[in-house]
Amino acid sequence: LAKVEIELASIPEGKNVVIKWRGKPVFIRHRTQDEITEARSVDWKHFRDPQSDEDRVKKPEWLVMLGVCTHLGCVPIGEAGDYGGWFCPCHGSHYDISGRARKGPAPLNLEIPAYEFNEAEGKLVV
Ligand code: FES
Repeated sequence: LAKVEIELASIPEGKNVVIKWRGKPVFIRHRTQDEITEARSVDWKHFRDPQSDEDRVKKPEWLVMLGVCTHLGCVPIGEAGDYGGWFCPCHGSHYDISGRARKGPAPLNLEIPAYEFNEAEGKLVV
């Protein structure tokens, strides 16, 4: 299976990067401490697709998700929407800083692909 590697040091804190993996966009965000705190302080049990931030990341500062809206598959825009995360312009779905569906027609959170960290080389492998 095709793997994609990305140098983590190339993504500054507070920035998003989009890579292509099997023809799909993958969003990588280097989250700030404030964003991590925000993602973990909300009452996620009442969300439409209830999931804790801890269950969505392997390391708090790195959020890795498929950039495919769970409504009808458009590519959401980063640093947008009402929850400080992503916004899908096709029909107005809002995702938070953990990629969880919070408003609009998207039924599910943005999907998390299989990935791992290569600590020795400072890389993320998707
Ligand atoms: Fe994203 Fe419809 S495809 S809101």
